[in-house]
Amino acid sequence: MFGTSDGSRREFMRAAVAIGGAGALSACMERAQEPVPPGDRGALPTRQYAWVDHVPEDEHGNFRLPRHHVFLYSNYEEDGTPSADEADRLETALRSLERAYQWSNQGLLFSLGYSPSYFERFDRSLPSSVDLPAPRRLSDFEEPDLDEQDLLLQLASDSAEVVLAAEEAVLGARDEVNTVEMEADAGDFLTVDERRTGFISGGMPAEKATEGVEGIPTEANIPEQSPLFMGFKGGFADNQASEDHIAIEEGPFAEATTKHVSNIRQRLQDWYIEQDFEDRVAEMFSATHAKEEMVEGAGLNLGDGSGITDAMTTDLVETANEYGRVGHAQKNARFNRDADGNVILHRRHVESTDNGYASLHFPSLQREISQFERVRVGMNGDDVRESPRIRQRVNNGILEYIFTLHRGNFLVPARSQRSFPTPAGEVV
Ligand code: HEM
Repeated sequence: MFGTSDGSRREFMRAAVAIGGAGALSACMERAQEPVPPGDRGALPTRQYAWVDHVPEDEHGNFRLPRHHVFLYSNYEEDGTPSADEADRLETALRSLERAYQWSNQGLLFSLGYSPSYFERFDRSLPSSVDLPAPRRLSDFEEPDLDEQDLLLQLASDSAEVVLAAEEAVLGARDEVNTVEMEADAGDFLTVDERRTGFISGGMPAEKATEGVEGIPTEANIPEQSPLFMGFKGGFADNQASEDHIAIEEGPFAEATTKHVSNIRQRLQDWYIEQDFEDRVAEMFSATHAKEEMVEGAGLNLGDGSGITDAMTTDLVETANEYGRVGHAQKNARFNRDADGNVILHRRHVESTDNGYASLHFPSLQREISQFERVRVGMNGDDVRESPRIRQRVNNGILEYIFTLHRGNFLVPARSQRSFPTPAGEVV
């Protein structure tokens, strides 16, 4: 089924991650090419989400996320709160992974986040320095399932074998990883409720589209270098919050961050068939980007920033009246700056073909969940609909093509607090 070219090898690895389990892992191990660098626990950053300095940059200084991602939405099996022994076993398992694999895209990056439902198991509430409301609908036209599992373990690596082996090992199905013995596992007390998978890499969407993925017309001419099904690059360095800027500054969870994860289905028939390239640039970025031909192909020419300027974010009703549409990036940028002009959200979205359709796992990290909610509610563009040319979903950025299936909120504590924290910031 799969040949030996780079493209077919990549597709094999992506499919293996999506399938998961021991069979997929052994198929990957047979094909694994590079040795995986071992870990050094002494060199680990305090923050679980400190990934930017541990992944490569492109030529413009944009960080490049690892290629493969597994999201394990899991529950603590018992009623009540985990025991100290279970916290110890979880921590020991995670430390074994850290000894086995370098904290990098070549090894393994991971983070463990806890939901509001998890913290409700305890008698006391989270401190006011942590803003972690339950997930909720963020527009009138969405009906997402709310992810209220206790915790979310996200595993990420350029190597399919590494994410699969780490998943098996932490759940107790494997007792050695990268020649390091797993000294404990969490399989006795954690159950995976939902397993989701993602990938991100220039070229993968174009490759996948030719195979026929639900949601992508076969005629879609996705630019060769695009990392996203919608045909553009996202996450330019200048339009991302720094990791310092998303760290909670005070209280028992100082150095933690909050993580909102949505899962979004994409239906790109009209995006690619009804619209031409210029229309797509205008709806993704801004009409000025289209008019001034700022974007070539997937937009890699933009360098380290999307090119959104203050002028493009001012008076969008007038822009809408003139051009008949508003861009996704220009609309969102309006709510994505603090009083000092710093970017607020740090987006780490990856594509997916879980369940056979084109979709997206969209983790956004920020100091407070409310900050995410403000930007996402702003993306509805209710104020811009004052222009008769903008409708709830039509001509309104990319809303016509995306459908939110799930939303979940999590607290990602500092590494020292990651194994079953209490609301007071201690480990049980
Ligand atoms: C299929 C779904 C989506 C795709 C393909 C997509 C793609 C993009 C692209 C290409 C950009 C411009 C480049 C950049 O700055 O990264 C952008 C900007 C942005 N997007 Fe999305 N996006 C999607 C959904 C969302 C959602 C659900 C949110 C939620 C709030 C969001 C928030 C933002 C923000 C905040 C910006 C940056 C604006 C600024 O400059 O401050 N996007 N997106």
